[in-house]
Amino acid sequence: MQAINQIMNRNMTTGSKFEIEILAHYCCMGCREEVKVSRFPVAAGPEKGKIVKTKTGCYCKELDEIKKSQHEARIRNLQATFERNSLINPDLQEATFESYEAGEFTKAYEQARKFADSFNVEKPSNLFFQGSFGTGKSHLSVAVTKAVTEKGYSTIFISTPKLLTKIRSTYNKFSEQSEGQIISAITNADLVVFDDIGAEGEASGWALQKLFEIIDQRIGKHNIFTTNLGSKDFERSMDLQRIFSRMMMNATPIIMDGTDYRRKQFAKSIK
Ligand SMILES: Nc1ncnc2c1ncn2[C@@H]1O[C@H](COP(=O)(O)OP(=O)(O)OP(=O)(O)O)[C@@H](O)[C@H]1O
Ligand SMILES: [Mg+2]
Ligand SMILES: [Zn+2]
Repeated sequence: MQAINQIMNRNMTTGSKFEIEILAHYCCMGCREEVKVSRFPVAAGPEKGKIVKTKTGCYCKELDEIKKSQHEARIRNLQATFERNSLINPDLQEATFESYEAGEFTKAYEQARKFADSFNVEKPSNLFFQGSFGTGKSHLSVAVTKAVTEKGYSTIFISTPKLLTKIRSTYNKFSEQSEGQIISAITNADLVVFDDIGAEGEASGWALQKLFEIIDQRIGKHNIFTTNLGSKDFERSMDLQRIFSRMMMNATPIIMDGTDYRRKQFAKSIK
C-alpha cells in the first residue's frame, strides 16, 4: 500500500534524520481499534539504518490472551466441580481416550468419541453401555466426561452404588451434605454418567425408587448409563423396568461383551 502520510522527525539522540512512513491506517475488525502500520529505519545501534515495519494500536493478541486465560480458568473450575461431585473408583481416575486400547471394541470407542465430539446441550442424547465385566464401559465413560469438560461443559461421573450409599448417609443428622445438594448437583450438570446401574444389589424398594427419581429428573439432558445387566434383567421389577425405559429414551446402545481387560492384565502379570 502506498504511504498515506509522511512524518519527518529529527532523532534527538543521534541527530540523524528519522523518517516514519505510515503504510496503512484502518479499523481492526477484531478489536475495533484504530491501527497504524508504519515503516522506519532503525535510528541507532548495530542495526542502524535497517528498515523495520510495525503495527500499533491493535489489541487482538492481548484480547485473545485474556479470553484464553478466562477459558482455562473456567475449565479448571469445571474440573474442580467434577472432582467435588463425582464418585469414581481410583483405577478410573486416569482413564482417557488416549489410554484406551480399542482393539475388539473399536466401534464402541468410536461411538463414545463421536458422542463427546458432537456434544451439544441443545440436542440431548444418551449413551447406554451394556456388557460383561472389565470391557472398558466405565473407562470410556470417564474419557467422555473429560473430553466434554474440556469443551467447557459441567460433567459428573457417579458410581450408582456409591451414590445410593452417599444419599443414605445424608439421613444421618451429622451429615455435612444434604440429599438435596447431591441431587441438585446431579440435576444441573450438562452430562452425568450413572455407572454400574443394577450392581448395587438394590433389591430395596427405596434404592430403586430413589434412582428412578434421579434419572427421571435427567430427562432432556445428556446422560451415560453403564450396566452389566442384560435387557431381561431389567424385567425383574417394576422399578427396574421404569428405570430401563428412561435410560432407553433417545439412547445409543453400545454392547461391550468380550475380553475382561482386568483378567488380561492379570494374566500378563503372572507370565
Ligand atoms: N481397552 C482398554 N485399554 C486400556 N485400559 C482398559 C481397557 N479396558 C479396560 N481398561 C482398564 O481396566 C479397568 C476395568 O475397566 P472398566 O472399569 O472400564 O470396565 P467395565 O466394563 O466398566 O467393567 P465392570 O462391568 O466390571 O464395571 C480400568 O482400570 C480401565 O481403565
Ligand atoms: Mg464399570
Ligand atoms: Zn485488533
